[in-house]
Amino acid sequence: MQVNQRHRKGILLAGGNGTRLHPLTIGISKHLLPVYDKPMIYYSLSLLMLADVREILVITCPKNQSNFQDLLGDGSQWGIELSYTVQDQPNGIAEALVIAEDFLAGSPSCLVLGDNLLYGHNLTSYLKQASAQIEGATILACHVNDPSAFGVVELDENDKPISITEKPANPTSHNAVPGIYFYDENAPAMVSKLVPSSRGELEITDLNRLYLQQGKLDVCLLNRGFAWFDTGTHSSINEASDFIKAIEKRMGLKIGCPEEIAYLKRWVSAETILANVQTNPNSDYNKYLQFMVNQNPDNHQ
Ligand code: TTP
Repeated sequence: MQVNQRHRKGILLAGGNGTRLHPLTIGISKHLLPVYDKPMIYYSLSLLMLADVREILVITCPKNQSNFQDLLGDGSQWGIELSYTVQDQPNGIAEALVIAEDFLAGSPSCLVLGDNLLYGHNLTSYLKQASAQIEGATILACHVNDPSAFGVVELDENDKPISITEKPANPTSHNAVPGIYFYDENAPAMVSKLVPSSRGELEITDLNRLYLQQGKLDVCLLNRGFAWFDTGTHSSINEASDFIKAIEKRMGLKIGCPEEIAYLKRWVSAETILANVQTNPNSDYNKYLQFMVNQNPDNHQ
């Protein structure tokens, strides 16, 4: 795979302790738990792939790194390049950009949290629109019922950001910031100017506020048909699973399926997909891949 130095690179952040999910996460990272029919991390990986980001650093906690490598491999099965590193302690989401500094080597980035799931009409064009903005930072905003557990962005009448606050007690808007962020090449250096918050973390909201103060923060407001889940609690994993199950059963199509995205983008051939399917034809997931290839014979390379 040819990689252009200036292409946006991906950071898939899957560290943390998952304390809210204990005891589920004592023996396994939450990002490997199922959301209906696939591991949670497939959904955030799919967001990067849909944004055409193909060179991705997966950041995990030290204990679980080999599980991620077993699951995701080097990415060649999906026409992408995956490399791995660890975050020693959950020192905050923004630390990912410092950990990834050598990997980024001056490229713009897209940072995705491994526990986020987004689904809605025109998702790909939102992601491509955000990714196309090479200068400054672009974040998404999604209307939620209770924004107080998230970063919250306040917008003016032209949807330009006015303020951004982490977990506000009295939110100034219902626009929460999902865990997918697009940054220019300055982000790692900007994170090194941040000081840890009162909870001891380098806050991604503080980085976004620095961009806002420089007049370089864009917000892409998702329309009302969007579903965004941050699958950090027992009930949110269940809600996300029910949502995926309902849509997949109704449509007969999968959400967050890396093989399908790679195949439809012509990053991998039918032979590559089907070779893996044949190693385990009993799995419903693999039966779907066979169906998907049959449905799209034009992509056969
Ligand atoms: P959180 O849900 O804030 O933290 P967590 O996953 O450790 O869970 P809990 O609060 O239950 O202990 O993290 C959001 C996402 O960001 C999740 O995918 C883990 C990731 N993360 C890191 O990888 N490193 C970090 O330092 C932090 C704070 C989060």
